[in-house]
Amino acid sequence: MIPHETVEAILQAAHIEEVVGDFVTLKKRGANLIGHCPFHNEKTPSFNVNPARNIFKCFGCGKAGDSAKFLMEHEHYTYVEALRYLAKKYNIQIEEKEQTPEELLEQSEREKMYNVNGFASNFFIETLWHSEEGQSVGLQYFRERGFLDPIIEKFQLGYSPTAKDAFATHARKNGYDDDLLVKIGLCIHSEKGNYDRFHSRVIFPIHSMTGRVIGFGGRILGSDPEKKLAKYQNSPQSEIYDKSHTLYGIYFAKNAIVRQDSCILVEGYFDVLHMHQIGMENVVASSGTSLTMEQIRLVKRYTNNITMLYDGDDAGLHAALRGTDMILSEGMNVRVVVLPPEHDPATFAKTFPIEKVQGYLADNAKDFIRFKTELLLKDAADDPIKRSEVIRDIVQTISVIPDSIFRISYIKECSRLLDMPETTLMAALNKMLRARFKKSLGPDGDAMPDENIVAPNQEEEHLDEQIAPGFFQERELVKMLLMYGTSMIAIETTDEEGKPVEDSISVAQLIIDDLKQDEIQFNDSTNNKIFNIFDHEIDEGNIPNDQFFISNEDDAIANLAADLLTSPYKLDRWEKHGIFVKTEQDVLKQAVMSAIYRYKDQVIDARLRAVAESLKQETDPDNQLILLKQKKDLDGVRMKINHLLGIVIAK
Ligand code: CTP
Ligand code: MN
Repeated sequence: MIPHETVEAILQAAHIEEVVGDFVTLKKRGANLIGHCPFHNEKTPSFNVNPARNIFKCFGCGKAGDSAKFLMEHEHYTYVEALRYLAKKYNIQIEEKEQTPEELLEQSEREKMYNVNGFASNFFIETLWHSEEGQSVGLQYFRERGFLDPIIEKFQLGYSPTAKDAFATHARKNGYDDDLLVKIGLCIHSEKGNYDRFHSRVIFPIHSMTGRVIGFGGRILGSDPEKKLAKYQNSPQSEIYDKSHTLYGIYFAKNAIVRQDSCILVEGYFDVLHMHQIGMENVVASSGTSLTMEQIRLVKRYTNNITMLYDGDDAGLHAALRGTDMILSEGMNVRVVVLPPEHDPATFAKTFPIEKVQGYLADNAKDFIRFKTELLLKDAADDPIKRSEVIRDIVQTISVIPDSIFRISYIKECSRLLDMPETTLMAALNKMLRARFKKSLGPDGDAMPDENIVAPNQEEEHLDEQIAPGFFQERELVKMLLMYGTSMIAIETTDEEGKPVEDSISVAQLIIDDLKQDEIQFNDSTNNKIFNIFDHEIDEGNIPNDQFFISNEDDAIANLAADLLTSPYKLDRWEKHGIFVKTEQDVLKQAVMSAIYRYKDQVIDARLRAVAESLKQETDPDNQLILLKQKKDLDGVRMKINHLLGIVIAK
């Protein structure tokens, strides 16, 4: 029998994408991974792995489950065999037993390090709660800083005594040798004898994703006016600890991050603990340094949404700028909240109840690009040289965003904020993308290009489409097809005798029929392919669902579907383009109809402009007459559409 806690620990430690990845080649697709299902034969990949939920699911054959289930299916293991396999893979001890000195020696180096850290952590906890010095100094300090006992216990805070070798002595007595203690950084080497790195400090153990202690931070008590002592001592880099790969608090925060689909990023230990203490648990700290790619990827396993919570002082503001381009380049959503100048997250959460803190966050969260633009503009004031630097800086930031549609929407927004024409910013953006693409080819020009970077001609083509009239409206319609194609909505029609009757129709059919009636075709070829698939399938009596497109063998379709269905800003960003979206679920029909009208309005607009252009050049009076007639017809349609649109919006 494997103890219940161990089973839980094993399943928690097992990352589905790593377990499955040992047997199936997986490719990233949005927040998920996708591959060919190992349980049935298929040409197009429909096997999905969801790291956030830690499960797999095949949309072809329907098999689904967690890591253990996968192994039982794939390797024909029993449940216990699957757990043993996972325990081995993730270095989890199944039987708990006292270890002899020989066994200690036999353990792998890493295992020994985890082990000694766990041992040290227990010592610091024991000392905090059960020694006189620990209670009167350490515990007293934590309580003065506003921590209540449950949070001190949960985060396994500790205390390391003033006696410089208290821990070293205790560790030696228990069979740990000095080399290991120095190597892991618990002790510092000295000619006069090794001594405790963390002596006279309160201790914050740092946990891995799976809850093992990988390092420590130790803070001096109070302040050191002479600044002789560093406020914090941290474990040095080791085989199991790399500060730049770690987020403080991730083990305690990950469930809340997944649940709330958002992660709040703060600076330090006290910030994390105070936020947790009031019940906001989706909080982690970068521990004072600027963010690294590895830290961002840790968060990305669980959510695409990061809110950076910073001190209201100038240093805090500018700290928020550092590292953020990297988050954006991962396709994540970044928002920034600046606290009132007298606060940091710790004091803020200590002072106000959770409702207040949440309210403040909700009211003050600013989209990162907007935050950066406003901040830099304020710094530049009226200095024209600084201003042009700001513009370059902002466009640079926008250029790292992988999704082109968001790049465009930011360009539009920044054009307003910077009071610069969109086309100028777009040209600068394009130049940067092109330069980066060239660079990614390497000196010989034959290296594999970075897949995030679009080839210049592609990008240019793309840009033309994007600025082309109706681009956003077209996308909006495709998005509706994908998201709500199968939803039914009520319509009014007439029966054979011409009496009005209630009927219902799928959103897909409504859109397709409506556009076909007017012989309208999408501009973009991928959009068009999707349109044709819907058209064809509806004729056959099917309505394809979103999965059909997400796992489509045509990469362009699959990518666009994944893009549109997972686009992080969802509806609110679209509103900024003046596209009517509101709460699509509630007023689906209204939204669909208005999307259709808006799209048609753009199409008619483009046709009108084309006719006007031809008219200018046409000299033959007969042809002029035909064009004028076309113009008149189009004007009529346009008025009708605007009238319908007016009705829909007014509703
Ligand atoms: N930090 C660190 N090493 C240092 C200084 C800071 O690791 N020498 C990290 C710690 O994670 C710390 C965070 O940076 O929590 C923020 O630093 P700071 O604001 O100086 O400390 P606080 O933890 O906020 O402590 P206090 O409120 O007591 O000043
Ligand atoms: Mn601080």
